[in-house]
Amino acid sequence: MWTQKIRNDFDRIALHEQQGWNHNSHYHNFLLKQLPLQCENALDIGCGTGSFSRILAQRADRVIAIDLSPKMIEVAKQKSRQYPRIDYQVADILQWEFPVKQFDAIVSIATLHHLPLENLLPNLQAALKPGGKLVILDLLQHENIQDRLSDFLAVPLNWIFQTFKNRHIKRSPEAAIAMKEHLRTDKYLTLSQAQRIYTKSLKGAMVRKHLFWRYSAVWQKSSVTP
Ligand SMILES: C[S@@+](CC[C@H](N)C(=O)[O-])C[C@H]1O[C@@H](n2cnc3c(N)ncnc32)[C@H](O)[C@@H]1O
Repeated sequence: MWTQKIRNDFDRIALHEQQGWNHNSHYHNFLLKQLPLQCENALDIGCGTGSFSRILAQRADRVIAIDLSPKMIEVAKQKSRQYPRIDYQVADILQWEFPVKQFDAIVSIATLHHLPLENLLPNLQAALKPGGKLVILDLLQHENIQDRLSDFLAVPLNWIFQTFKNRHIKRSPEAAIAMKEHLRTDKYLTLSQAQRIYTKSLKGAMVRKHLFWRYSAVWQKSSVTP
């Protein structure tokens, strides 16, 4: 039932999706820098309309891009006609059969807070090739006064970026309403919760806080695996 709600929310959001700068695209370059320079196979979990899948396709021979929402995948396919390397699939990642030691890179942006992270991480670990990279960006809940200060700083910066970077974009009230309704039920980890969960499953994972209510987690699988 919860999965159905998420699917419905994102089907609705996809209809009103707007291009332009946002708190996730702000980190695309940072995420790209964490990835191998050349990949045979890459996986994008919760690809949405494919904005990062298309960037990944410049680095990878094949990108599998998965999303729960059929509408998101429909829009992603329309936007990716020039990207034959991307294989878009409508699927619930929790039901997906992960291939073993298949991917040089697994990426997920603003999606894992919808999923039981502790159960998912072992699958991601097994699906990476030796030496493969896991790169996550997700939303973060503040937990202390420093977080509140950086949230405070993010508000005017957000306004500046929205005003200047998105000045050519016509705002859609429907998009704002659909997103606002979805966000009402969203729950996020704090940085210390994220650090504990990632480092428990993935030894040496680097989990960092970023501006605009985000954290990143980066982990490289050992190239010497049993
Ligand atoms: C906030 S959007 C982010 C989309 C994209 N990664 C981006 O950065 O624009 C989260 C996406 O995760 C997808 N999603 C949520 N739960 C999922 C699941 N169990 N399996 C696959 N995709 C899921 C949603 O349908 C939605 O498109």
